[in-house]
Amino acid sequence: MNKAITLALTGASGAPYALRLLQSLVQADYRVYLLASSAARVVLKTEQQQDWPGSPRELSAYLCRQYGAKEGQIVACGKEEWFSPVASGSAAPKQMVVCPCSMGTVSAIANGASDNLLERAADVVIKERGQLILVPRESPFSAIHLENMLKLARLGVTIMPAAPGFYHEPKSIEDLVDFMVARILDHLGIEHELTRRWGYGQA
Ligand SMILES: Cc1cc2nc3c(=O)[nH]c(=O)nc-3n(C[C@H](O)[C@H](O)[C@H](O)COP(=O)(O)O)c2cc1C
Repeated sequence: MNKAITLALTGASGAPYALRLLQSLVQADYRVYLLASSAARVVLKTEQQQDWPGSPRELSAYLCRQYGAKEGQIVACGKEEWFSPVASGSAAPKQMVVCPCSMGTVSAIANGASDNLLERAADVVIKERGQLILVPRESPFSAIHLENMLKLARLGVTIMPAAPGFYHEPKSIEDLVDFMVARILDHLGIEHELTRRWGYGQA
């Protein structure tokens, strides 16, 4: 476990993407620093009927059990845990994914708010010129959303909207989720077998 990544969940719809991504990162033997906003917890309850423990320590243990992770492999951090490694360029993982990413968090990141650990962690990855991937979900996008995303894209942030394709003939919700998660893993450079690749297995 010598690779680390930050995974942040916010209050946009799309909790199943985040859970599948977490599972894939654990399987790929990454240490995962996990950040979840208050709204992300509401969405998790609504979409997945999951009620995560409030304290970071309990949440870490709960998720490690849930995903068969090694002890310390999933490190949940509180929203004002300013001494977490993700809060400083000297210790933060170089890769971070915000999945799903609300328009509120897109705005906060685009404006460098750094008002909680999640926003600060994203700010750190941008300033350190690491890899930041946002998985926004909203429909339609307003000009505010689009301007914020354009600003971030120009800074090198990858904007990867939760918009699964249908050309792999999905049969289930899991197939749609895997489509998105596979694309995220591709961008992170993590091998996986979640979906068939374009051009392979076509008639
Ligand atoms: C069930 C549910 C679904 C939501 N879906 C979205 C969404 O898809 N996109 C979005 O930007 N906000 C969505 N919201 C609203 C955000 O959760 C809200 O703006 C919140 O303040 C975002 O905070 P955060 O960025 O700190 O997580 C949703 C809220 C709930 C309760």
